[in-house]
Amino acid sequence: MSRITWILGNWKQNHRPPAAEACAKGVAEGLTEALREPHPSAGEVRVGIAPPYLSLAAARPFTRPGHGTWLLAQDVAAQDEGAFTGEVGPRMLGDAGVEGAIVGHSERRAYYGEDDAAVAAKLRSALGGGLVCVLCVGERLEARDAGEHESTVISQLSAAFSDVSPDALDERLVIAYEPVWAIGTGRTASPQQASDMHRTIRAWMRERFGSAGVDRSILYGGSVKPSNAAELVAVGDVDGFLVGGASLDPDSFLAIVRAAATTARPPEAG
Ligand code: 13P
Repeated sequence: MSRITWILGNWKQNHRPPAAEACAKGVAEGLTEALREPHPSAGEVRVGIAPPYLSLAAARPFTRPGHGTWLLAQDVAAQDEGAFTGEVGPRMLGDAGVEGAIVGHSERRAYYGEDDAAVAAKLRSALGGGLVCVLCVGERLEARDAGEHESTVISQLSAAFSDVSPDALDERLVIAYEPVWAIGTGRTASPQQASDMHRTIRAWMRERFGSAGVDRSILYGGSVKPSNAAELVAVGDVDGFLVGGASLDPDSFLAIVRAAATTARPPEAG
């Protein structure tokens, strides 16, 4: 069974409401054409955007259910409601028509002090709240250079899933491998580096959760562009992308969607 292919745009702190509306509209208008001839090996293809909180309402009319694009938030609170200044909980996101959230992005870990425990709490909150949850993991350059990239990512996974049971895992759980050194730098992981790490993550998920873990989509993020998207998905075990800068323009985002949807995947090993 092929896994779901996800292509998600993380707009970060970009696109105030008028620009968000234009970008979401552009994606909606071009989506049918971009998904016209998906390769059968890509399985079901889902496309989503994650605008800043205050631009969600402007993007909303151009997303599901009226259009094909999923609407995600870039973060979610660990708790549903209460005295937590500045926070937005999963139910509030659901009320706003949001279907998913990114959790544990490296920018939140690095700039806002989100540690493994906070990421784990947010993961439980998002899954418990019925949201699609895109859990981000990835090593810094020092860890890669020291040959500690796999152990770093495994430790992030172990912490995030410390209190999650296999029956809580379904297609709503998506993992994004985003090596920190490749984010916004123009330096993409090679297809082999991405594929190797995705296999490591999948093996860990299999060991930890059995079949509930092994079928999860694992996305790559970090300087994904129209020019490198096809070679990254063609290598195997890369089930789509979490795109930053190149998702801010509908044309480049749709070119990545098209490349991910139409490129043949190699047969799955064993
Ligand atoms: P870039 O595509 O701009 O490198 O950003 C990747 C990312 O952080 C997506 O979450």
